[in-house]
Amino acid sequence: MIELREVYYSYDHNITLKNISFKVREGEKVVLLGINGSGKSTLLKLLNALIFPTEGAYYYKGERVEEKSFKNKDFRRTFRREVALLFQNPEVMLFNPTVYDEMAFSLRQLGFREEETREKVEYWADKFGLSPLLKSPPFELSLGQKQRLALACLLVLSPKLLLLDEPTAHLDPKSTGWLVDLLWELPCTIITSTHNLSLAEELGDRLLVLGQDHTLIYDGRIEDFLRDEEKLLKAGLLHRHRYRDKGGYHTHGF
Ligand SMILES: Nc1ncnc2c1ncn2[C@@H]1O[C@H](COP(=O)(O)OP(=O)(O)OP(=O)(O)O)[C@@H](O)[C@H]1O
Ligand SMILES: [Mg+2]
Repeated sequence: MIELREVYYSYDHNITLKNISFKVREGEKVVLLGINGSGKSTLLKLLNALIFPTEGAYYYKGERVEEKSFKNKDFRRTFRREVALLFQNPEVMLFNPTVYDEMAFSLRQLGFREEETREKVEYWADKFGLSPLLKSPPFELSLGQKQRLALACLLVLSPKLLLLDEPTAHLDPKSTGWLVDLLWELPCTIITSTHNLSLAEELGDRLLVLGQDHTLIYDGRIEDFLRDEEKLLKAGLLHRHRYRDKGGYHTHGF
């Protein structure tokens, strides 16, 4: 479904993604791990075509994704309809007067009739526990509720590729468990970033890891990576420190 070939991305002169190549097949659930600043959000923005590779190539369903592809109306419409990104900060995604309008926004933009829009909004609001809040202004919601709303706004469009940037960051354990179950129910391809090691295994079955040097340092089964302490230490995902009084070491993840 997607393929990256030797992709580099730089903000000004700072390389943030370095020589990244991988393919993702339709229906895969992929987890993206990496420490703060390793480039997870940048990679997800690139997959959502908000930014384009400085070098290398990105293909979506065999078509090259670059600035000029978006001049083609059909490509633009298909890509924007099929590929959806949940931002790390849900607040930047919410700007409508009510939760209902927020969820209806993209459907209305795409020309859905109000009746069909209402049906979809009510279905997803119910699934996300947002029905009692449909008339509320989004800014009055708690951060966790905003995160759920931002995701619901994407799902009303039934995306084919769902990109989630730390979707559980503001959720309590119960909502996190609920979200994990929901993600496995969705028929789409999903790439989820996190630095929560204990959650990684639940969010997917394949793992991509960005290293501190912004290269892809692992692509494979999640279990194998999580049981390899040296790999975790190399990725900076495990912290080893000396016991203050006993002279030994202990490690902990994030
Ligand atoms: N708009 C920008 N302009 C300049 N530099 C940026 C911009 N966005 C990100 N960066 C830089 O790119 C690097 C990677 O940032 P990115 O947000 O992709 O990391 P991340 O892995 O998502 O981190 P986190 O876990 O903190 O969310 C960082 O060094 C950051 O300072
Ligand atoms: Mg990030």
